[in-house]
Amino acid sequence: PDATTSTPVAKVSQYACQRRTTTANSNKIFTDAFEVLAESYEFNEMEGQSLAFRRAASVLRSLPSKIQSLRDAESLPFLGKHSIAVIEEILQCGFSMEVQKILSNERFKTLKLFMSVFGVGLKTAEKWYRKGLLSFTRGLFPTGFLHYGDISRAVSKAEAQALGNIIDETVHAITSDALLTLTGGFRRGKDFGHDVDFIVTTPEMGKEEHLLTAVIESLKHQGLILYCDYRASTFDMSRLPNHKFDAMDHFAKCFLILRLDGSRVEGGLCGAEGDGRGWRAVRVDLVSPPMKQYAFTLLGWTGSKQFERDLRRFAQKERHMLLDNHALYDKTKRELLAATTEQDIFAHLGLQYIEPCQRNA
Ligand code: CTP
Ligand code: MN
Ligand code: MN
Ligand code: MN
Repeated sequence: PDATTSTPVAKVSQYACQRRTTTANSNKIFTDAFEVLAESYEFNEMEGQSLAFRRAASVLRSLPSKIQSLRDAESLPFLGKHSIAVIEEILQCGFSMEVQKILSNERFKTLKLFMSVFGVGLKTAEKWYRKGLLSFTRGLFPTGFLHYGDISRAVSKAEAQALGNIIDETVHAITSDALLTLTGGFRRGKDFGHDVDFIVTTPEMGKEEHLLTAVIESLKHQGLILYCDYRASTFDMSRLPNHKFDAMDHFAKCFLILRLDGSRVEGGLCGAEGDGRGWRAVRVDLVSPPMKQYAFTLLGWTGSKQFERDLRRFAQKERHMLLDNHALYDKTKRELLAATTEQDIFAHLGLQYIEPCQRNA
């Protein structure tokens, strides 16, 4: 190769599902700022601007190296005037004045604090803020508040592993041919998460929901359940996939707070040694799709959220297909496309396969 010819810079796709994004983010200084802006717009119900900053952050996360000059950023997808201005400011003085202002804004800080409670969304946080609340008051708070200290603390990989072992033992004591899969952020190779996500199912068609309720019963008997929000299946085969990302899937699932004993965790509990309890509360999500929908659920629950959004957007805009956690529908052929693996789904979409550890978009 001729050393004088510079290597052509590969064009960065506007779709996260055509980019490879590992957990090594070389542009954290910019993406952290963008996420604050995105959140602030979300709090003001400016969804368009919020999504624009989330997309810009996602593009920067996929870059192999740190942005050194404005010229590096200008040709990238979703980097508009506003985000370029923020980058310029950070390149010049190391921080963005606009972001600093948001971070010290009382409404922003208070909403963030309230929304860090499990089960509290923008609407509830807003309601409390309007009542004049600025911090937590005893007696006013939902379930999540009970274990607030524990569940606002990150979950480590070792803790996720320990929970996997406990649930694996529980599931297999019920059915020997059950299938348990770690999904969510830990499947993408993250070292820490806000919860641990699992898919639990069985090849016996129609028995998956029964399996989930049996798992919950058993965890209860073992004294491990601190809180359980169970949602029965509303899955209906005859419904077409709903590409709208915010629509929840219809499989049986539960949002749990489990008690994790330090003795089960290699290297001990993460950061809770001080209080001498020897256990901590952890958020765990379990979802139970029928085996036929397993690959779609695995792809949907592995995330990241931005990766999922763009998979659906790509399917619709580029392929005239509808994708969700249940199925893939080809609108041209008017048929559902079956899949037993994630690779099958990428192939149906005409996409190169992206490993879970490259989906941290
Ligand atoms: N998900 C979903 N339906 C739900 C809940 C979650 O499809 N009812 C998907 C989300 O879209 C996401 C994945 O499951 O892609 C994991 O969600 P979550 O645990 O919130 O995020 P993580 O990526 O695991 O990040 P964290 O480490 O913060 O848990
Ligand atoms: Mn998760
Ligand atoms: Mn999350
Ligand atoms: Mn989750």
